Amino acid sequence: MSGGRTLDGEVVVSGAKNAALPMLAASILSAEPLRLGNLPDLRDVHTMLSLLRILGAVVDGAAPGSASVRLAEPKSFSAPYDLVRTMRASILVLGPLLGRFGRADVSLPGGCAIGARPIDMHVNALRSMGAEVEMRGGYISARSNGLRGARIDLPLPTVTGTENIMMAAVLADGDTVIENAAREPEVRDLADCLNAMGARISGAGESRIRISGVGQLRGAEREILPDRIEAGTYLVAGAMTGGRVALRFRGELALGEVLAALRNAGADVRRGEGFVELDMGGRRPRSVNVATAPWPGFPTDMQAQFTALNAIASGHALVRENVFEQRFMHVAELRRLGADIEPLGREVLIRGVRRLQGAPVMATDLRASASLVLAALVAEGETVIHRVYHMDRGYERIEDKFSGLGAEIRRV
Ligand code: EPZ
Repeated sequence: MSGGRTLDGEVVVSGAKNAALPMLAASILSAEPLRLGNLPDLRDVHTMLSLLRILGAVVDGAAPGSASVRLAEPKSFSAPYDLVRTMRASILVLGPLLGRFGRADVSLPGGCAIGARPIDMHVNALRSMGAEVEMRGGYISARSNGLRGARIDLPLPTVTGTENIMMAAVLADGDTVIENAAREPEVRDLADCLNAMGARISGAGESRIRISGVGQLRGAEREILPDRIEAGTYLVAGAMTGGRVALRFRGELALGEVLAALRNAGADVRRGEGFVELDMGGRRPRSVNVATAPWPGFPTDMQAQFTALNAIASGHALVRENVFEQRFMHVAELRRLGADIEPLGREVLIRGVRRLQGAPVMATDLRASASLVLAALVAEGETVIHRVYHMDRGYERIEDKFSGLGAEIRRV
């Protein structure tokens, strides 16, 4: 990549990875097909489709960007290690497999670059619904003769934990109440999908979710939400380069505190039905303090992007990561580009510099790699980013979309 261009153009926002993955897992709950539209062409989506095929699902992608998944006859109840280690979100098949078939063997997802990422809350919740869950040979082995509804108090509002519990509870005997549930838009979207399949879920999107078990679920047809993290990433790119970025999308795009942070950085942001437009008018961004939190707080998945913005902003900023214990892997790489960032434990102090210098850097995780692309857009000279496969997990056609905005970016 070569930096220095002012971005100006339009981007179509793809379907959200973190909405698509749980909804694909939800297809396990019915013998009838679940048809999903606006499905993003991402590595993680293909990984989840491969996993569903291993379990016995028949997948036919009617057209690019859509898929119909049907699990009539299970072939296996096991999510193998060599697949789970490439995608932690495979854990999302645990709840639906247990809920519909009473058995699941899911490889323990390893940690990843951003932390240990335990799944104790998933396991404890399923146990309280009557499942026998053991750790055996690196696998989570769960059995049940029929889950029963329970009241579940989550110590932390875990996103995939809430999703797993919801999917385990829809066919359980009786009512389940989840307290301190995750409130992310993707959680509400999953509940809407399950209700379209015949489930009875209320309160999704709030801290208390109630699920009344039903006998069985039917098929449904759904559109995937637009990806609010992809969208936020392109808006930050517009702000960092002093340019103008217009987003186009279908469905509801919940940007939450990201819009406020962009406006605090000095961007003009307009939004309407199906569009959001950021115009920086050639200005350098102002430093913006950020503290991540579960929704509706500032999303942790946007922290690395705002760390990059603050690296070239006018002033000083504190960026605090409250959700994951070590989500600052991008800091060392940004410093190689000349950023002035001082690690202070759970937060970093960033002193904005006028110019970054291009250099070879290494991507470590999905959102860290996005922050390196953002920094490379404004760094003088050439930046080569290694291990961009991290990027392909969550950003569809990233070089096409950035090229379309005027960036000099190519895959080597
Ligand atoms: C989801 O991960 C997202 N992934 C992540 O996006 C996102 O960063 C995260 O939520 C937070 O918003 C998907 O939706 C597929 P958590 P998840 O369980 O569910 C601790 C991306 O870039 N915890 O809400 O794994 C955990 O360690 C990815 O797209 C436990 O201690 O996150 C973390 O500190 C990265 N025990 C905190 O809770 C548990 O049993 C929040 O994790 C579960 C979680």
